[in-house]
Amino acid sequence: MTTQTAHESAPFWDRLARRYARQKIGNLPAYEKTLAQTRAYLKPTDNVLELGAGTSSTAVLLAPDVARYTASDISSEMVLIGQEKLAQSGLENLRIVQGALGDTALGDGPFDAILAFNLLHLVPDAPSDISRAFAMLKPGGMFISKTVCLTGRYALLRPVIGALHLMGKAPSVAYLSPQSVARMMTDAGFQIVEANNPSGAQTGHFIAARKP
Ligand SMILES: C[S@@+](CC[C@H](N)C(=O)[O-])C[C@H]1O[C@@H](n2cnc3c(N)ncnc32)[C@H](O)[C@@H]1O
Repeated sequence: MTTQTAHESAPFWDRLARRYARQKIGNLPAYEKTLAQTRAYLKPTDNVLELGAGTSSTAVLLAPDVARYTASDISSEMVLIGQEKLAQSGLENLRIVQGALGDTALGDGPFDAILAFNLLHLVPDAPSDISRAFAMLKPGGMFISKTVCLTGRYALLRPVIGALHLMGKAPSVAYLSPQSVARMMTDAGFQIVEANNPSGAQTGHFIAARKP
């Protein structure tokens, strides 16, 4: 058995980055709902860390709501596109860095909120990342995530994704369920504050969890 490291999939995301940046948001109402749900937990004084921020489109939208915002991603190409957006935005409280949890580039925190959108199904060891996030949050801090859960009828997609992964056309995906994500949160010590599917589908499961 091989142990995957957080950075192993970076070349895949590097190759995808420019195409990812050009793609339109698949379900705009669900995306806007997630933004509103997330904003409800953010305060103007907050120090926020986003993990797997991709091209930092969400970071550029949320940074004006908080004091300091660090957007991070393992892909240097995603980070480069984010930095291009940052230069155009004029935002002074947004920092975009390359890295994963455990890397010094992300800073030590403590953070008021850590965000992970469409990420937890892609990391090699989600329970370990969730525990690291817990350690980097202030007491009362929020871990806010939206996770692709290929359960129910979406489980039919698993063989297709597996085949695409073997061809190098899809990342390695962990098949999580809303329940398994919630369990990982509570196992790490979080209290679940809110859990639902803004898209009405299991594929985008939103969880807001608080560090007691
Ligand atoms: C599906 S994209 C999501 C991007 C963005 N959060 C969004 O919702 O549009 C996943 C992103 O996570 C990054 N990524 C993958 N594994 C990671 C890891 N272990 N730590 C940090 N980022 C990771 C990829 O480079 C990619 O930009």
